[in-house]
Amino acid sequence: MANITFSSPSLSRDMTVYAVAGDRGTILAVAKANKIPIPFDCQDGECGSCLVEVQILGDKRPHGIALTEKEKEVLRQLGKITREEIADAEVNDMPPHYRLACQCFVRNEDILVKFAGDETVPAQPPHLSSAARIYKGGMEINSVDHFLAHAIKVEDDAATHFDGLAASMELCGNAEVAKLFRQLAGYSRLHLRAATERAKGKDLTAQIPPDYVWPDHATPERTSLLAGDADLSRLDALRTALAGEKRGYEFYYAVSGTSKIPAVAAMAKEFVKEEAEHIKILEAWIAREEWLAAKHEV
Ligand code: FES
Repeated sequence: MANITFSSPSLSRDMTVYAVAGDRGTILAVAKANKIPIPFDCQDGECGSCLVEVQILGDKRPHGIALTEKEKEVLRQLGKITREEIADAEVNDMPPHYRLACQCFVRNEDILVKFAGDETVPAQPPHLSSAARIYKGGMEINSVDHFLAHAIKVEDDAATHFDGLAASMELCGNAEVAKLFRQLAGYSRLHLRAATERAKGKDLTAQIPPDYVWPDHATPERTSLLAGDADLSRLDALRTALAGEKRGYEFYYAVSGTSKIPAVAAMAKEFVKEEAEHIKILEAWIAREEWLAAKHEV
């Protein structure tokens, strides 16, 4: 029998559960069965939402594990595994401190599982900024055409912006990040195409009042940073892109919550989901860049 103690700021107290042989599964499965709120999303070792710290209790040597490449890569991107831990896992099958709860199987040993609750990496919706409050108070979108007009503008602007960032990264020789920005520009163009197709060829530009200014004088997916800055570091570029994506997310989120037209709210929700995916991608890249930067500083 294994005692598993869960500890988190999101629990009022530590909780210990008992997993009997044959009924163990992963840490996430045990947590779900006992209504312990470890955040999760993909349940397939890809998103990093279910990150936990695992401590083996007692003096026994930990059970060996075969850390999969997928889990190793996600932990690496999150900056939650050291080079030494990777070597230890590969050579000695020793488990690292941090694991993905959906990938970590409970063994016949007592463990303490710590998770951050609300602070755990993705899966949590990004916090709304003051920009979202401005949209809520100042721009209620109450027709499908009105929504599509804004969505077309947002996505067109975002695609141009990401292309600019990609060009900037290419100039600096950062081909890898340039590729990511081209990919994000591609996603924005897909949204743009979807919105344009739904507009059925109608010119909706008239739906945006000529004197309308977005908060900060920029559409939600733009940021104040000029895309042509060749000195932009990879990390700066990624953070800039993240700020832009979060504002796009907030815009759609605000529309989904404020529109009185169900079709508009439903459409905005679709965009919310996709923007949240982009945010997760960028956050993973930023975690990876920060990890690399910290490694070079040591
Ligand atoms: S839920 Fe996505 S990695 Fe575990």
